[in-house]
Amino acid sequence: MDKRPIGIFDSGLGGLSAVKAALKHMPNENIVYFGDTQRVPYGSRSEETIESFAAEDIAFLEKFNCKLIMAACGTVSSVAVNATSKIKEPFIGVVKPSCKAAVTATRNGRIGVMATAASINSGAYTREIQKLNPSAQVFGVACPVLVSLVENDWIDEDDTITKEIIKRYVSSLLDDGVDTIILGCTHFPHLSSIIQSVVGDDVVLIDSGKEAILEAKRLIEENAMENDEEKGEAHYFVSDKTQNFSNIAKTLLGVDISDKVEYRNITE
Ligand code: DGL
Repeated sequence: MDKRPIGIFDSGLGGLSAVKAALKHMPNENIVYFGDTQRVPYGSRSEETIESFAAEDIAFLEKFNCKLIMAACGTVSSVAVNATSKIKEPFIGVVKPSCKAAVTATRNGRIGVMATAASINSGAYTREIQKLNPSAQVFGVACPVLVSLVENDWIDEDDTITKEIIKRYVSSLLDDGVDTIILGCTHFPHLSSIIQSVVGDDVVLIDSGKEAILEAKRLIEENAMENDEEKGEAHYFVSDKTQNFSNIAKTLLGVDISDKVEYRNITE
């Protein structure tokens, strides 16, 4: 019995794709979430900036006596190697679990990665996939505009503009003949039904937030660290006004979390 929370962080709303999976697959666990909404996006920033933001996010979560810390952020998982390697608690990023899932899912060994510019430029997804399957071919595309679409709630399945933007980003991946695409930025699973409608049902989409949660579940079970209580509690902290986050989170998670979201200045 380990009641300590799982600490999950992202630059903004993206990590809620991991929270959504946690509410489904580990509903008994307590969660502390931090979304750095004041400084989103991370994906267009330098390595130094991403490292220092990640170190501050981690230091904030470490105050909650977490049993595990998760970077539900492809950018931090790909780039902030220094900050994440210093975490004292067990740590899970999204790169390894999603690459593992993609290598298992692909039938033709051609894997696409949609992520931020920082994640694609780091080469982290390519390295990890080729470690698992040296003959796999990896095709990456940086999709920065999709982060803003999610942060601004342009995620409706019928949104023709969002669909056109996605078409533009995935066309090279389809030309490359990928049969599996990692949604390597945690904002993108919030757009997965639109992405799936563009790429077609033959292409498998890997939800990086969900894969990280399934990995966390395995780790917690292996180490007998489950919370035996029937239902866990989730608390959310953001570094800018809470209202935007609460409103969009309601659509993304399907539950009203407005009374559980608090503003926190983590750099004080
Ligand atoms: N959700 C994040 C990721 O997984 C970051 C997006 C951003 O802040 O640019 O990469």
